[in-house]
Amino acid sequence: MKNIILIGFMGVGKGSVAREVVKHSKYMTIDTDDLIESMENRKIKQIFQDDGEEYFRNLEKRVSQWLEHSVRDTLISTGGGFYKQKNLKSMATIVFLDSPFDEIIKRIEEHPNAKNKLKKRPLLVDLKSAKELYNQRRPEYLKVSDIVIDVTNKSAEACAKELLKKVKKHA
Ligand code: S3P
Repeated sequence: MKNIILIGFMGVGKGSVAREVVKHSKYMTIDTDDLIESMENRKIKQIFQDDGEEYFRNLEKRVSQWLEHSVRDTLISTGGGFYKQKNLKSMATIVFLDSPFDEIIKRIEEHPNAKNKLKKRPLLVDLKSAKELYNQRRPEYLKVSDIVIDVTNKSAEACAKELLKKVKKHA
């Protein structure tokens, strides 16, 4: 099985969809932010605070190089800016989880742990600049992806099933 890379804006539900894919297939899953937190033994928020965004992006680059050489049969869930890494196409089918900005924010705010979800994401603290970032990134997500899934008003399970169907067709 070729790897799958899940891309999309912060809070769109990449982790939830990844867990459902694991339930309904033989794929394993890993998350680039989790790998970075393990490498550094600190939370993403702390890394941004202590060392800044550029330092974090360099860690993402290191992770992408490792993934390319070492990971197979896996759905790789990524942080919202990971899609910029240059080697993704060569190692995976790229799936973009799409939803309008307001729907993403609504989804986060309705989550029982909403406060924490917002707090742990440094680039989501200021909603005005987050929306600008969304508007800038959405065309780039579309450009780099092989498959697009509109996740608006769909359960993670429904998205996972749609993903598996589309990946099979794309192969
Ligand atoms: C980022 C998204 C975050 C995390 C970091 C930067 C981004 O991941 O990697 O805070 O640039 O969009 P999630 O997309 O899982 O929130």
